[in-house]
Amino acid sequence: MTDETRVDARVRAGFATQAEWCTAMGAPFLARICTILSEKLDRTTATGRRVLDWPTAPLVDALPLRLTGGLQALVRRGRLPALAAHWPPNVAGDDLDEALIAAITDADAELLPWLDGPPQTNEVGRSGVLMAGLLVIAAETGLPLALFELGASAGLNLRLDAYAYDLGGRVIDTAGAPITLTPRWTGNPPAAATVTVANRRGVDLNPLDVTDSATVERLLAYVWAEQNERVERLTAALAATAGDPPAIDREDAAGWVERRVAPTPGVATVVMHSIAFQYFPAESRDRITAHMAARGAKATAEAPLAWLRYELEPEAGAATLRLTLWPGGEDRRLAKAHPHGTWIEWLA
Ligand SMILES: C[S@@+](CC[C@H](N)C(=O)[O-])C[C@H]1O[C@@H](n2cnc3c(N)ncnc32)[C@H](O)[C@@H]1O
Repeated sequence: MTDETRVDARVRAGFATQAEWCTAMGAPFLARICTILSEKLDRTTATGRRVLDWPTAPLVDALPLRLTGGLQALVRRGRLPALAAHWPPNVAGDDLDEALIAAITDADAELLPWLDGPPQTNEVGRSGVLMAGLLVIAAETGLPLALFELGASAGLNLRLDAYAYDLGGRVIDTAGAPITLTPRWTGNPPAAATVTVANRRGVDLNPLDVTDSATVERLLAYVWAEQNERVERLTAALAATAGDPPAIDREDAAGWVERRVAPTPGVATVVMHSIAFQYFPAESRDRITAHMAARGAKATAEAPLAWLRYELEPEAGAATLRLTLWPGGEDRRLAKAHPHGTWIEWLA
């Protein structure tokens, strides 16, 4: 085996594994695209050479999703009609392989920039899981909430009180809601309460501007092709957020939490995050954890502090929703949930 073939094999295996993940996550079309790329991508294009020569771990770098995001963006803007004929909502024909490889040749230069950085997403389906946690905090404190979101991305989940919900029969019928979230639910419904947001602010290393059309197209490009319901939901939430974007500061979460988060009389101060903590440097995670414990020790019933975490928990085989509420400070696992909020198993 030559060096070149050895590098190719490692990258091709990454695409094949991504195909398996897509199948497991209910995205058979994207799985087929990744399988074709794993078998047929070649070195006749700059895109092919850059992908097959990828120097670091392809899956850690989300390399397959960089390329499929670029393809989907070009399909969405009408740039690749022959490939679009196979792309959802159209039904893929037997000659998808040729159409895909021809599209890479045709749009070689336009695809290259998509390889430069990993996908950055903002999944609004996660609001259903976070809102269930806020119901618990509102019920137990009886106070309006001051929301601090870490890794807020485009801020879609920071505006979660703008959406309507049916959470296991607990209906939140928000007037004028752009989307209604109805995750598949098992277990008891969450606590009955009214969630009132007194104020909100987010932080992200790279906040996304939802009033910028290129940013919006980029976010939509990363939603998996056949998941049309997610595309529609995201489109509606993005349009609504563009009319009222929340403040999101550009910096690492740790210093921001240290400066801004403290129990305040008259509100329940809530630090929340979804599928973000794992991306923070270990030092930032430790500083945030230490700050929450130190400030939590000073919390009172009039000035409570909550830490709501919806994060992947491999030992639980899913993402989980955890809540620590001070005073008290017990760490409670409220739910297991699909990472996009598709289903929720309520444990409380
Ligand atoms: C997978 S995205 C999740 C975004 C959003 N929370 C959601 O659920 O859709 C992770 C987010 O964390 C942000 N991020 C990564 N490291 C960070 C850090 N050290 N401080 C603040 N934000 C960070 C990324 O820019 C990205 O927007």
